[in-house]
Amino acid sequence: MEKVRIGILGTGGIAGAHLGGYRALLDAGYDRFVLNGLCDKNAARRATFAAKVKEMFGVTPQEFDSAEAMAASGAVDAADICTPHAFHHTTAIACLDGGLDVMVEKPCGITVKASDLIIAAASRNQRLVAVAEQVRRGVKARAMNWAVNQARMIGDIRFWSVVGFSSWDFAAENYRDAYAWQWRLLKLLTGGGMVFDAGAHFADMMLYLFGPVEEVYARTMTYQQPLIQSPELGARPMDVEDTWVSTWKFANGIVGQYSWSFSAPGEAVATQIFYGTGGSARDRGGWMHTFQNGGDLTLADGTRRSYEEIEPMFRAQLDATERERLFPHGVENDMALECWDFIDSVLNRRRPEISAEDTLRAKAVCLAIYESATAGVPVKVQDVIDGKVSAYQDPINQHWGI
Ligand SMILES: NC(=O)c1ccc[n+]([C@@H]2O[C@H](COP(=O)([O-])OP(=O)(O)OC[C@H]3O[C@@H](n4cnc5c(N)ncnc54)[C@H](O)[C@@H]3O)[C@@H](O)[C@H]2O)c1
Repeated sequence: MEKVRIGILGTGGIAGAHLGGYRALLDAGYDRFVLNGLCDKNAARRATFAAKVKEMFGVTPQEFDSAEAMAASGAVDAADICTPHAFHHTTAIACLDGGLDVMVEKPCGITVKASDLIIAAASRNQRLVAVAEQVRRGVKARAMNWAVNQARMIGDIRFWSVVGFSSWDFAAENYRDAYAWQWRLLKLLTGGGMVFDAGAHFADMMLYLFGPVEEVYARTMTYQQPLIQSPELGARPMDVEDTWVSTWKFANGIVGQYSWSFSAPGEAVATQIFYGTGGSARDRGGWMHTFQNGGDLTLADGTRRSYEEIEPMFRAQLDATERERLFPHGVENDMALECWDFIDSVLNRRRPEISAEDTLRAKAVCLAIYESATAGVPVKVQDVIDGKVSAYQDPINQHWGI
């Protein structure tokens, strides 16, 4: 195959960001793909997106209104799936059964069972599933991972604290009326609130940095319950968490506390800090995308090491092979790198850096937060992966027949 013919499925917000990634690859001289298909059940969003593709790439992709139609068309080899979470498994399985490879936006399946169905469909069709998870791929996140895990600048990690408290009005018109929020605030469509949404990036980074998580203990709260008019479910009050408190125990003994709220009027707080035997590392961003904007160290003797010092040290120790592995064709944009990993894995029939199986381990930590909050006791992440603990997910599975 000379070029992978890609079909973008779900032409909303993040699909637009993927376009930027594909464009950055072309700009870097990498052209082993062509955007040949677009699929969205909403004709207006699809048409707007088609115009954007024409403007950015000079091509006119074929348009489809269902995953099944796109998979049967013969127009594409691979699908880039950017739908709401409830439709990840339905669209991915239709594509895989139609012989396409797929990249599914995080958090892959809406439940563990939905992810298992995607993995089974890939296996029976001998197709691959990449997960669109960009945060760890950017140069700043890679540099901070190197500082912590290879250069061991803050020694052995002991514990961390990640807290973010602010006020976010989910009753405001722009949240209630925009499609992207009409599904994000309803459990049956999204699977969970920001623990599961932005939290998917956070969990991926925590496992990337510190290894597997063994056990979680959590409480979740829903203080805001505005009425949502969902095109798929009708009128329902918001029912996902807007606040949570959780503790994580990693297999290697590291302990973390991850607590967040969007219903905290008054002073806003956003801190991500990681402590080791030799000092601490503080994240520079305000959101859950750990180290996406770099981080700064304070060593045990009080010495500061800023991100501006860390990045050149990281770059200097990369040999040519490692540089090409992490930043192929000189690309350092995280969204472009996730698109490249997908295309290259399709072309070379290799496992992508983040497969559906890999992401399940991270996503299961997010689901363990809900399962612990539902059961009122600590929950083993492996029990969530094995389906032994599923009371929180059961209604989602029942609703969608998973
Ligand atoms: N990586 C990131 O940083 C990041 C950021 C935002 C969103 N996301 C993820 O991207 C995905 C989509 O989020 P979004 O914000 O772009 O959503 P969105 O609401 O903006 O877009 C979703 C699109 O999917 C379409 N759609 C819904 N069901 C469909 C179906 N069955 N078949 C075809 N099209 C369908 C909708 O019409 C809509 O145009 C989610 O998985 C989300 O978690 C990732």
